[in-house]
Amino acid sequence: MDKLKLSAAVCAAALMLAGCGSFDEKDAVSGSTVQAKDETKVPLIVVETRVQETENKEEEIPTEEVVPSQTEAPVLDSPMTESEKSNDGTIVLGGESPNVGKTLTQMSVQEEAAYSNNQPMGNEVDPQSFNNYANDVQNTQEPVVEQQVENNENGEQVSGNGYKIETVNGVTYVGGILIANKSYSLPQNYGSGLDPEAQRAFNEMQAAAWNDGINLYIVSGYRSYWYQDQLYWGYVNTRGSQAEVDRFSARAGFSEHQTGLAMDLNSASRSFEGTPEALWIEQHCADYGFIIRYPDGKEDITGFMYEPWHVRYLGKDLARQVTDSGQCLEEYLGINSYYQ
Ligand code: DAL
Ligand code: ZN
Repeated sequence: MDKLKLSAAVCAAALMLAGCGSFDEKDAVSGSTVQAKDETKVPLIVVETRVQETENKEEEIPTEEVVPSQTEAPVLDSPMTESEKSNDGTIVLGGESPNVGKTLTQMSVQEEAAYSNNQPMGNEVDPQSFNNYANDVQNTQEPVVEQQVENNENGEQVSGNGYKIETVNGVTYVGGILIANKSYSLPQNYGSGLDPEAQRAFNEMQAAAWNDGINLYIVSGYRSYWYQDQLYWGYVNTRGSQAEVDRFSARAGFSEHQTGLAMDLNSASRSFEGTPEALWIEQHCADYGFIIRYPDGKEDITGFMYEPWHVRYLGKDLARQVTDSGQCLEEYLGINSYYQ
């Protein structure tokens, strides 16, 4: 039993180290573009094999520099946002994290399992490229567009565009669409992996892209509540400000990655913008049931800066309608996205 617990803790710690790191931008980009151009066409079965290879590759990404630690973390305005790393390497979460004061080994067996079940690792935004980009965009904490959520004559909650808002076991559906954003969170125990339908849709899109000479792969798919918590607070510790981090990384419970319906493709870096892969995704992803979830110019509505790599599965019909509307999902449904 002790042995089991120890290995779960070691596994969880290893995953955290892997997940809190940053990509080498060049490696990530060359991995996506050079490979696509150098390889000749392969049959579908080989395309599927590459998904597995990609996931394995993810775990090899060197990661140390973003691991929260007492010595590496910048001096912060408030000591309440710091996590601490003790001499034995145990990380104790600080700040306003729901896990404040907890270490991985103090998590329950269930929490550890949820934590270590998280598979694909990815990085939201390369901090250095974010640094340059952030100065160009107005930092908005409050939504500019606010939707009026009301009750209809039956006492049901409806969105600004008349879609019924339902909460089932702590999960919000708007017009039947599962929503996770800054206004609508998920329970801690929600999710267990990538949705199989979304995975199949991705496989179909990947094969089509390959036929066009484009190599698409998932760098971050499902992320558990606990993994997102580590990721978010890791960023806060290295960036030093929650206001900054809130623009590109969701707080635990508020990430669409926890739904299993969202995925980051190829490279979560500003340098991905304008690449052949990014343009292909933008032009074709709706044909396979995906939308670019955080479009350019919609940060004040979605609550997150432009992410050309982050797609959300909606199914082909709805993805087409949302895309053709030119609206982001919040606008289309008539809902808000901001932390209360
Ligand atoms: N980067 C997106 C917003 C997330 O953290 O889920
Ligand atoms: Zn993402």
